[in-house]
Amino acid sequence: MRKQIIAGNWKMNNDLAQTMALITDLKKQKQTSNAEVMIAPAFTNLNNAFEALGNDNIEVVAQNMHFAQNGAYTGEISAQMLRSVGVQTVILGHSERRAYFGETDELLTQKTNAALENEMRVIFCFGEELGDRKSGDHFNIVESQIKNALFHLSESAWSKIVLAYEPVWAIGTGETASPNQAQEMHAFIRNAIQKKYNENVSQNVSILYGGSVKPSNAKEIFSNPDVDGGLIGGAALNADDFFAIVNAF
Ligand code: PGA
Repeated sequence: MRKQIIAGNWKMNNDLAQTMALITDLKKQKQTSNAEVMIAPAFTNLNNAFEALGNDNIEVVAQNMHFAQNGAYTGEISAQMLRSVGVQTVILGHSERRAYFGETDELLTQKTNAALENEMRVIFCFGEELGDRKSGDHFNIVESQIKNALFHLSESAWSKIVLAYEPVWAIGTGETASPNQAQEMHAFIRNAIQKKYNENVSQNVSILYGGSVKPSNAKEIFSNPDVDGGLIGGAALNADDFFAIVNAF
């Protein structure tokens, strides 16, 4: 059975004091669902987040990493560095990384390979822009994003991959894909994976939806058979809202 996952992508929000305060609030929450829960604070606060969470079953994950193990890459963070503070999962290919930092399918292939070589789990993000959806090109775009960065992987490597479909037009805009649009794309992705690999891989990979998920729409989105959770931005910055989403399963 594939896992249900709710991951909070904090983006470039929350300094150290704010991180500690939000974690204190998160620890007070009661989980009634079986979903795996993750938060992705800024790099500078990962270590403190681990310490503050202790044995709590919220996993601390990273928002990005470099593909090299170490070296002359000023300002970058490697998989080894993340592993050394306890991080086991990294978000790669977020649309903001693609749009503002020029991340390409080729670069994301290198990053994915590096994460897997370091035995990390990858939450791989992808999704079409508004223009692609308007021109009816969204299926092609999404298929090529996945194919270019992930279809060289072995079948066994897929046990470390979580997919996150995030239509760019729905991120931080208040606009959500309708439950039907989400289900339709998730089923399309699962089918593409089944064609390339097999039923075992396609049925076991978790496909999260991201883009303006809120307590008010989470239940409807997660009720779709091919939606296995969410990557949550804005609503992850408030403990009550985030856990309302976690408990929407
Ligand atoms: P949002 O962000 O929930 O604020 O739309 C989602 C994301 O970018 O992962």
